[in-house]
Amino acid sequence: MNSKQQRVAAVTGAAGGLGLGIAQRLARAGYQVVAIDRAPQVEQATQPLRDEGLKVQAVVLDIADEEAVRRMVADVDARYGRFDILVNNAGIHPKIDGERNSFLKMTTLQWNEVIGINLTAAFVLCREVAPLMRRQKWGRIVNMSSRAGRTLVETAGIHYAAAKAGMIGMTRIIASEVAGDGITANCIAPGRIESPMTTQGSDAQRAMLVGRIPVGRIGTPDEIGHVVEFLVSEDSGYLTGTVIDVNGGTFMC
Ligand SMILES: NC(=O)c1ccc[n+]([C@@H]2O[C@H](COP(=O)([O-])OP(=O)(O)OC[C@H]3O[C@@H](n4cnc5c(N)ncnc54)[C@H](O)[C@@H]3O)[C@@H](O)[C@H]2O)c1
Repeated sequence: MNSKQQRVAAVTGAAGGLGLGIAQRLARAGYQVVAIDRAPQVEQATQPLRDEGLKVQAVVLDIADEEAVRRMVADVDARYGRFDILVNNAGIHPKIDGERNSFLKMTTLQWNEVIGINLTAAFVLCREVAPLMRRQKWGRIVNMSSRAGRTLVETAGIHYAAAKAGMIGMTRIIASEVAGDGITANCIAPGRIESPMTTQGSDAQRAMLVGRIPVGRIGTPDEIGHVVEFLVSEDSGYLTGTVIDVNGGTFMC
């Protein structure tokens, strides 16, 4: 890669929350960002970045649609001639039964929906993008897990916890298989971060949650973007197959 070329970074779930924070960070760090979301608002949400003169292409895409994912990967390759960074951030966490989703009440359909988007779609994206990274002998994959994939989180549904734990196992296998090709694959396991996924609940519930976080506050999408920027940097080539916990100290409690 010569100095005039720009690394291309695709971020899924970039219409808001963590994904938008990650897209902002990478765009400001000089990457060509492909901001993907099934919500058409991804266009509007990333417009301020384009207004700043940053390179951000918005793509409306349901990552559960395998054919559409293949077309997107081919389009990125045709347009930029490369695919350097994949951030599998998109995810869902539908509440089934109030705050705690009892596994006894969960239907197979509900299970499949969450596993399908939070795990299978990320697998498909890794599988489709890795050959392009291999071709260029360089790549960075960052998969969004969760504290719920690392330990018991009482508000997490069984489908969500299984998908997020699965993300860690999947990433380990990918990292080992592509390690000789200049490609790294790592997970981030966030604790509570400000986003549309987590802003529900009363003030009292929020105060209780904050009280359990040693640093005394909820994290920000930009703080997750910061960790992504570190993981995808040129100098992070020796860092692979790991999980970085970003949770204000909650996991040590
Ligand atoms: N916010 C937190 O506290 C927290 C904690 C741990 C892990 N996470 C994980 O971080 C990621 C982002 O979470 P968030 O809080 O920003 O959530 P969010 O709901 O605010 O944003 C998720 C985005 O993903 C998009 N999306 C969902 N399904 C999609 C699909 N099939 N195709 C394309 N886009 C799709 C949504 O439209 C949305 O814009 C998720 O994987 C989540 O599980 C979040």
